[in-house]
This record gives sequence, structure tokens and C-alpha cells, in this order.
Amino acid sequence: MNVTIFNGSPRKNGNTSELVKKIISLTPGGVEYESISLFDKKISGCMNCGACQKGTLRSYCAIDDDMRGLYDKFLNADIIMLATPIYMWQFTPCMLAFLNRLHCLCRHSTSYNMMKGKKISVCVTLGDEPEVTEFSINGFKEFCEYFALDYLGEIIIPYAEKEKISSGNYDEEVKMFIKKTMS
Ligand SMILES: Cc1cc2nc3c(=O)[nH]c(=O)nc-3n(C[C@H](O)[C@H](O)[C@H](O)COP(=O)(O)O)c2cc1C
Repeated sequence: MNVTIFNGSPRKNGNTSELVKKIISLTPGGVEYESISLFDKKISGCMNCGACQKGTLRSYCAIDDDMRGLYDKFLNADIIMLATPIYMWQFTPCMLAFLNRLHCLCRHSTSYNMMKGKKISVCVTLGDEPEVTEFSINGFKEFCEYFALDYLGEIIIPYAEKEKISSGNYDEEVKMFIKKTMS
């Protein structure tokens, strides 16, 4: 099984990256991970040119940026994990740009939808209480429902501190998340 993690945190050694490391280290054998930093990529928002909806493009999207290399990573993953801190009640800007640009994988006038059935989960860290994630995670669940993605679940680390994540305070939750999303 291959799992592709799209990490929307700008911090390479921050809370979200620590959570990602924990998830990888507590996963039983047989799972291959690839972790991609979205902050390192140049991903602009959709410009609503409509080209993808006409189905005449040779690439997925008309915009020539780093998203070009990410569509196949997204489509070829057995499981997709989105890892992100909460910024202003939302996923980070690079994560939102990434999600924005998935629009071209679905043509609204036809039954063409490459996102259909893709398995996806969410890993979130934040500074405040867990309820702060309701806006973003509920919104993302709506996204999944609309585009027919298979939403597997989420892990939320509120009041996040890197040391607590690394020292094992959340290991049981991480194991439950792995079990829920990979079985
Ligand atoms: C610009 C910015 C906005 C933030 N907004 C929120 C927020 O709305 N709610 C919250 O609980 N934490 C917020 N935080 C805190 C981060 O979500 C939290 O520290 C997170 O664990 C950081 O992850 P990282 O170490 O991977 O960057 C914000 C942090 C920054 C830098």
C-alpha cells in the first residue's frame, strides 16, 4: 500500500511535521510513504480559465507550475493524507491552493471525475481547542462529499507542542488513526 502525504506546514521541524513522523514511525510494515512539502512548491490558485472543463488540454490544468508534478502523485496514491496546521481557522494557504487546483480533475458537465473514490484522510495540528477545526474539517468533508472522495477520518492535535507529540503523548490516538484509515 502506498500513502502520499501532502504536508501544508511551512515548518520542516514544526508540530505538523512531527505528527507526520509519528504516524510513519507507528505504522506497521507493508506501507510505503511519500511525504511532499506543499510550501516548497509553487502552486497558484485556479484562474477559472475553464480550459480543464473543455477536456482539450494535454495536461490536467492550463497553469504551468509545480502542481503539474502533483496530480499523478495524488491520483496514484492508495491513500492520500493531508497534513496541515490551522491558520486563521483554515488549512494553510498552500494546502488550500492545492485543493483549489484539484478542480480540473472533475468535469461538471460530464461524469468525468478522477477524484471519485480516492481515499483521503486529514492530520491537523493547532494552537487552540479542537473545536476550532470544525470550520475547516467540516468544509473539507463537504468537499469530499461533492467530489465523491472516500473520506477516511482525521486526527486532530489541539494545543500542539512538538515535544509532546515526539515524546509519545498522542501515540494511542495516532495508532487509532492509523487503524481507522488503513484497515
Ligand atoms: C498565521 C497563523 C495562524 C494561526 N491560526 C490559528 C488558528 O486560527 N487557530 C489555532 O488554534 N491555531 C492557530 N495557529 C497556531 C498553529 O495552528 C499551531 O501552532 C500549529 O501547530 C503550527 O503547526 P506547525 O508547527 O506545523 O507550523 C496559527 C499559527 C499561525 C502562524
